[in-house]
Parts: sequence; C-alpha cells; structure tokens
Amino acid sequence: MATIAESAHQNIEVRKMDFAFDAIDKMDWYRNNPFMTAFMTVLSGTFPPGEQMFIESVRAFKDKVTDPQLLQDIQDFTRQEAHHTNQHKLANLKLQSLGWNALAIEKRVERAIGFLNNKRSARERLAATVCLEHITAIVAEYVLTHPEQLADMHPAVKNLLIWHAIEEIEHKAVAFDVYMSTGGSRKLLKRIMRSVSILFPMLSFARTFYLLFNARRMPSWAHMKDAYAALFSETGLFTCIKGPFKDFYREDFHPNDHDNRALVEKWKTEIEAYKA
Ligand SMILES: [Fe+2]
Ligand SMILES: [Fe+2]
Repeated sequence: MATIAESAHQNIEVRKMDFAFDAIDKMDWYRNNPFMTAFMTVLSGTFPPGEQMFIESVRAFKDKVTDPQLLQDIQDFTRQEAHHTNQHKLANLKLQSLGWNALAIEKRVERAIGFLNNKRSARERLAATVCLEHITAIVAEYVLTHPEQLADMHPAVKNLLIWHAIEEIEHKAVAFDVYMSTGGSRKLLKRIMRSVSILFPMLSFARTFYLLFNARRMPSWAHMKDAYAALFSETGLFTCIKGPFKDFYREDFHPNDHDNRALVEKWKTEIEAYKA
C-alpha cells in the first residue's frame, strides 16, 4: 500500500460558498429534461444524510489515527462535507418549491442509513464510506473532464456541482487512508463495494421514478433517449466511470493513483466568484 507521504497528497481547501439558488426559475433546470432533472435532484437529496454518515463513520476512527497530516485531513474533510450538506440543503429547499420533492428524498435516505447503521459495525460503515467516496470522486472527475454535460444546467446548480466536484477530489483519499491506517482489510472493502455499486445506482433510479411520479411528470420518449445518451453513450457518465471504478479492486489501489491535482488547479478559479 502506498503510504500517505508516498501518494500524490492533495491539498484540502475549505471554502464557504453562496450560490444563487433563488434564481432557478424553471422546473426542468437540467437539459430541459424532467428525467435528468429528477435524477440530479435525487443526488442532491442524497447528499445531506449521506455526507453526515461519511463524517460520522470517519470520525469514529479518529482516535486510532496517529499521522498528524491525516488528522488534519480528517478535520478539513469534515468541514468540506458539512459545507456541502448546507449548500445542498439550500438547493433542495428551492427544488422543493419548484415541485420536486427533494425533502422526501433526504428523509428516505436518512431512514435507509439509520436502518443500516443499526445492522453494521463501525468498520463496515467506514468501509461503505470509502466505497461511496470512491464513486463520488470518479463522478467528480467525470464532471470536471466533461463540462459539456453541464452546459444545459442552471448556472446556480452547475457552480454548486463544480465546487462539490473539486472538493470531493481534494478529500477523496481521507476515508481510505483512515480505513487502511487503522487496520481495515481490502477483502471487506471489495465485498462492500460489490453491494454498494449495485444498490446505489438502483436506489437512485428508483428514487428518480418516485420523484417523477410524485411531481406527476411523465418524460417523453425524446427525454428518455436524451437521458440514455447522458448516462450510457460512449461519453456518458456510467460508460466513462467504468475504468476508474474497476481500479478500486486492484490489490495496490490508492485513491490518489488517479492524480487529479492539475484538474483541480484548472477548475478552482471558476468558483472563486461564489465564495461567501
Ligand atoms: Fe461532499
Ligand atoms: Fe466526500
């Protein structure tokens, strides 16, 4: 395993932001497509309870960490995730007012996490966080390397996602480093990833249909074709993250093997204007 010092350590900058969610003025704010808008709303609704779980599962192992750099990283990771939660909660309130029941998604995810928390050990919860942080980081990499996918998105949400993507990349190794440096096994990580990688997209799609049904919105055939292109075409999300996803199963995998420092440098000036 690469040690923290050997790997391409990424600086973690905590930024407080202020996005103009009030300016979102139409229900289908992404690709003029209710399916894709509902899908992105589900992700936004998943973040607040999800990130709370990430924070708690990492902090549960803080006392076992001795590396001062990693202790600092845990602190910065916690602060970044807390800011993400705040901004997504604000976005979700606005989306709720537009007719998407984002708050119901927050509640459903919170209930599901509460159910799992009672059934799983602290080690398993941390392993689940490591898996979900890997998925978040490779989606973030996709977002920043395929800006054309954000072209038809309301600027307030677009800037939120760019900021979130930058910071997910910055802290992508923290949960992994805490897990490995406190004696976590790769066998458990791989076992949990097999479940997470099926459950997470499956539940996200199920919740997308729930949101559409709840909002009484029926996507047209053209909307579904557009959604298929955005998600499964040659340049689609699921197609492009397949390679980096599989790397997770390598015996010597470390999140910083995908060195995205240049990508972060390139994008971070874009969000300067939205700092609070
Ligand atoms: Fe986050
Ligand atoms: Fe994260």
